[in-house]
Parts: sequence; structure tokens; C-alpha cells
Amino acid sequence: MLHENLSVNEMGHLCIAGKDTVDLAKKYGTPLMVMDENRVRRNMRIYKDAMKKHFGEKSYPLFASKSFSCKYIYRLAKDENIGIDLVSSGELYTALSTGFDVSKAFLHGNNKTDFDINYAMESGVGYFVVDNLTELDRIDEMAGEKGIIQKVILRLTPGIDPHTHAAIVTGRVDSKFGIAIETGQADEAVSYTLKKKNVRLCGFHCHIGSQIFDIKPFCDASEIMIKYISHIKEKFDYAIEILNLGGGFGVKYIDSQPELDYEEFIRLISVYIHNEVKRAGIDMPTVVMEPGRSLVADSTLTLYTVGGTKEIPGFKNYVSVDGGMPDNPRYALYQSDYTVCLASKMNEKADFECTVAGRCCESGDLLQENVLIPRPVRGDILSVLVTGAYNYSMASNYNRIPRPCVVGIANEEDFVVIKRETLEDLVKNDI
Ligand code: LLP
Repeated sequence: MLHENLSVNEMGHLCIAGKDTVDLAKKYGTPLMVMDENRVRRNMRIYKDAMKKHFGEKSYPLFASKSFSCKYIYRLAKDENIGIDLVSSGELYTALSTGFDVSKAFLHGNNKTDFDINYAMESGVGYFVVDNLTELDRIDEMAGEKGIIQKVILRLTPGIDPHTHAAIVTGRVDSKFGIAIETGQADEAVSYTLKKKNVRLCGFHCHIGSQIFDIKPFCDASEIMIKYISHIKEKFDYAIEILNLGGGFGVKYIDSQPELDYEEFIRLISVYIHNEVKRAGIDMPTVVMEPGRSLVADSTLTLYTVGGTKEIPGFKNYVSVDGGMPDNPRYALYQSDYTVCLASKMNEKADFECTVAGRCCESGDLLQENVLIPRPVRGDILSVLVTGAYNYSMASNYNRIPRPCVVGIANEEDFVVIKRETLEDLVKNDI
């Protein structure tokens, strides 16, 4: 199967972490997301161990909350002793509600509101990742009012094009995020920040994009960032302590994609970093990374109940399911690849070519096109695999469809980690 936590049992049913998905669908209803806790922990440990080994004891990963912010994952991150990246007060609130220590958290965002800045400062968020100088002015001002010195790192664009989907490229000079090195604006920003009284410049950040399978852009970006740290040392006689390399490692969604060896990727990046640090004669910074997708995506699958099929002779076949773009908008947004299987009939011949359609009043509400599965009947359970990242976190109530239930599996037990939204939930803010 696509990942080692998936299997097929003697009934011909798809299993995740040894649990029969058809039984889970029966027990909890559909649409249902099922998360294998061990897989999340395993992924977190791979990063944690590899970063310490290759970048030094002080290095650590941050879970990029945007990929799946919920209490359950913050508890796992806390348990595995990794940090978090945050991009909103909502993510911060969720983390705090689990007792998460945010002193090592990094607050992102290209437009932090006064509310966000205040809430994050009051909560003791460790680092603010500054996107632009207007924001820096406000952070400095508000820190001054509170009588604190806020630690900041500057988000820079190293000018790298990692060749992934255009909507998830972020490291190019013309990105909406960060400050460009190439245009000289990064130097101006450093000089400006160093003059501020209520912030302390601790480091630099870059994030080149997401779902990247090629190691080269990461190595290039790391080299550029270390060169830049050494340039700042020379120009301003100022030592940068933290280098945050962002996230972006690709995840296998379909058979034709590789399963990356994240430890090997980290080792390769570290070779570039160590070489450049040595060449420049600077101290090794604390390297931080912010994986999201590669921590959670392959831990989870989504189960749907098939409503029926529509066959249009000479054109195409549709299979309709009881979810769609409200729980997973990624195909509609990015034409993302997914593996689809008929969880209730895994051993039958997959010879029915079809498009899997969601239930919204919208033609673009598709989960995948031209997939091969056994011909389903109403009531069959269909699964979309590798849905742990940017699915629930991007879910909506379009067409007033409640968000799905999320079930965790650990130590052979299954348990609800996010309750299914109810119809009452849908109207709770309506006056
Ligand atoms: N750090 C920063 C500053 C980021 O902007 C992101 C992702 C990450 C870390 C985590 O990247 P990852 O390891 O997950 O690739 N909604 C899109 C993905 C958007 C990514 C946004 N930033 C999707 O569904 O593919």
C-alpha cells in the first residue's frame, strides 16, 4: 500500500493502523477522518532526531500549525517536545488551551493585526517572524508600551523558485511574504531593526514553498541564508543566532511520487550549512525547521459513503460521496493528486474509471478525476488517502455542510479527537 500504516484485512477492507475502516465508518458515521497517532509521532521524531544529529543539540522542529491546527496535535507536539509555528490568534488560542508552552513558538503572518500582536505578547509567544517594516514599527511600539523586549526574526526571500504549484511558492523575490535579499531591502530591514529599542533581532527565516521533492532548492536556500548571516556579521558586526528554514518537504500522495527520506534531506542540507559556516568563519546558528505536511499528511485518511454513480456513455462516470470540497478543497484549488480506493471492496478489480464528486452545488466540487476503483454501489465506503495536511484546516461549511468527525487511533484504540459538527453548530453565530 501507499504507506506502511495501511493494509487490507481478510474481509477485503482497508485498514489504517490495523483498524478496519469500514467498521470505523459504521461506528462514527461519514465523512470521517481517521488519524494514526503513531505515524504523527514517528514523523515528529524523525525530524527531531535528525535535526539534533545534523544541525546540533539546540536545533528543533516546529509543527506548522496551519496544516492541521487542533488540540490533539498540539498535545502530541507537546508530548514529543517539539515547537510550533503559528499564524493567527486562533491557532495560538488552540495551542494555549492545551497548556502548550509558547515560549518556543514562532508567530508568522504577513498582516498581524493589533489584536494578534497584543494577544501573542500577552501570552509570551517566543518569537515574532516579521514580514515587513510597517509591522515591525507596530511590534516595537506595542512591546514598548508593555515594557518588554520582543524577540523577532526577519522573514527573507532568498530568491529561489522550487518548481511546485504556483499557489504554494513563497521564496521568490516577488512573493507576498518577506523581504527580498536581492533588492537590498533585507539589509535596510536589518539596519532598521537594529535601531529599534523594544525588539531584539535574533534570526532570519525563509520558506521557499510546499510539497517540494527536490533537495536542491533547500540546499541553495540554506547556502544563501548562511551567506547572508555572514554578510550581516561583516556589515553590522552582528551575530545572528537562529536560522529558520521553513517547511516544504514533499509527501507521497500517489504511487508515482517518491517517499522522501527526511533524515537524508536534513543531512544533505546540513552539509551545505556546515560548509558555508566554516567557510565564512561564523558560529553555527540554531537551525529551526517548520514542517507541516510531512508531519501529518500521511497519518490520516478520509472515509466517505458512496451515494451512487452516474454514467454518461461516451463521456465519463461519476461517483458521488457524502463529502467533498467542504472537507477537502485541495483538488478544487490546486488539482492536487490523491489516491482513491474503495475501502469496502479492496480485493475487487479496480476497473471502473470515474470522477469522484462531492455533494456541493458546484461543478468544481471534485475530489479526484479519472481514478480506477471497483464499480461501487450506494453504501460502499470510499477512501481518499493522505488527507492529514491542509484538509481539516482548510475545511469550510460551504452549502452549510457540517465539518467531519476526526478519530484518532493509538495503542489499538480508536477515539474521537474532533467531534462532528452538528446542525445546531452551523447556526450558533446566527442572530
Ligand atoms: N512555514 C511557513 C512560513 C509556511 O508558510 C508553511 C506553509 C510551512 C512552514 C509549512 O509547509 P509544509 O511543510 O506544510 O509544506 N494549502 C496548501 C499549502 C500551503 C502552505 C502554506 N505554508 C496545500 O494544501 O497544499
